[in-house]
Amino acid sequence: MLKDSVNFRVHPSPSISGKAVIPGDKSISHRAIILSAIADGNSKINNFLQGDDTLATIDVFKKMGVDIKNNENFIKVKGVGLHGLYADDPIFDFGNSGTSVRLLAGLLSAQDFDSHLIGDESLMKRPMLRVIKPLQEMNAKITCTNSGTLPINIIGNQKIKSIKYKLPIASAQLKSCLLLAGLYANGTTEIYEKIETRDHTERMLTNFLHPVIKKDNQIYIKQANRLIGCEIDVPGDFSSAAYFIVGAVITPNSNIILENIGVNPTRSAMLKILKLMGANIEIKDERLISGEPVATIYAKTSKLVGIDIPEDLVPAAIDEFPIILIAAACAKGKTKLSGAFELRIKESDRIQSMADGFSGLGIKTELLDDGMIVEGGQFSGGIVDSSNDHRIAMAFSIAGIVAREPIIINNCKNVSTSFPSFVMTAKQVGINIDYV
Ligand code: S3P
Repeated sequence: MLKDSVNFRVHPSPSISGKAVIPGDKSISHRAIILSAIADGNSKINNFLQGDDTLATIDVFKKMGVDIKNNENFIKVKGVGLHGLYADDPIFDFGNSGTSVRLLAGLLSAQDFDSHLIGDESLMKRPMLRVIKPLQEMNAKITCTNSGTLPINIIGNQKIKSIKYKLPIASAQLKSCLLLAGLYANGTTEIYEKIETRDHTERMLTNFLHPVIKKDNQIYIKQANRLIGCEIDVPGDFSSAAYFIVGAVITPNSNIILENIGVNPTRSAMLKILKLMGANIEIKDERLISGEPVATIYAKTSKLVGIDIPEDLVPAAIDEFPIILIAAACAKGKTKLSGAFELRIKESDRIQSMADGFSGLGIKTELLDDGMIVEGGQFSGGIVDSSNDHRIAMAFSIAGIVAREPIIINNCKNVSTSFPSFVMTAKQVGINIDYV
């Protein structure tokens, strides 16, 4: 964990190059712990992300009596089976992690004990009704505040029933929450999603020998008798790789190689967006690891042009928009992002946080309710606030490489939620970054 007050300063660099080592995928690490914990038998998770968010998930399962050994390089989990969790103390603190709290709301609704779910200041403000409403339809006794936020209270020991549910928003957290509740619901739970969102839960369930059935945009999950423990290799996190991909693309004379990166198509639409902008990116050595596509990514200096980002690509690039907008600020002409209202309710309001950062660095933007228009230009240098949001902090660090003067980014502690080694990795490829 980074210390409480952490600010980054990035001096411009003439070029960046080399191999950037990217830690394990956050979304996949969460799911590997969750399913290992409720499987029968032992599981081993390699390349687990040692970030604050995924460690919060581990802590919650330890509190529910699961034996989890964290050896840094790998994790060993002694599964307790679908009905083996217990809670002497019903208060579960999820820190900053939206994924942990939303996924576990589904799992905890189906347990025979009560639970009380809380988080840090940012998480306590994020919308939870999206999971509460369908879980109530599944007969869960689950409530949150009148404003739809944490704390969530769950009264256990309910008979969870299957539902047919059309996702009203493109959200993998919501879909995964319902899939986890669906493991316990009598019958078959059917979920319809209009635009496909990341399918890590579906793929992970296959590793534990409880595959879901997918027909077009319809997903079916049957009640489970049991899951079987297994060994999982977690790919490098595409969302963390994204900073170095864009870093190479916007910096002169640059060339970055990223090995073993997850390139699941429901997750990696940033590649399509950058290619539409003219980026020089190659994907090689594609293969499957624990059911997830991984590859080596080569990114090079490119001449970018502004585009209208196709709205159907938004869900599969949702976490990459802070860094995509940095690329847009370096492109010739205007880039328009729309259909991305969800960005307003992430760890910060990412549309506002990016616009504020841009305005302090001489980049012109026009705010939209569900996105923004960015006019390409040059970053002047100056001071930016991350709004306590890891992705804003890392995005503006990359902007610092090509700014006229240094950029200082305040409040970067939360970088440790997803990429604790970011500064070290950045230095290794030649980014002139330090703590101030
Ligand atoms: C995640 C899903 C996405 C993403 C988040 C991780 C997941 O959220 O933004 O960082 O692991 O399922 P939504 O599903 O709410 O869009």
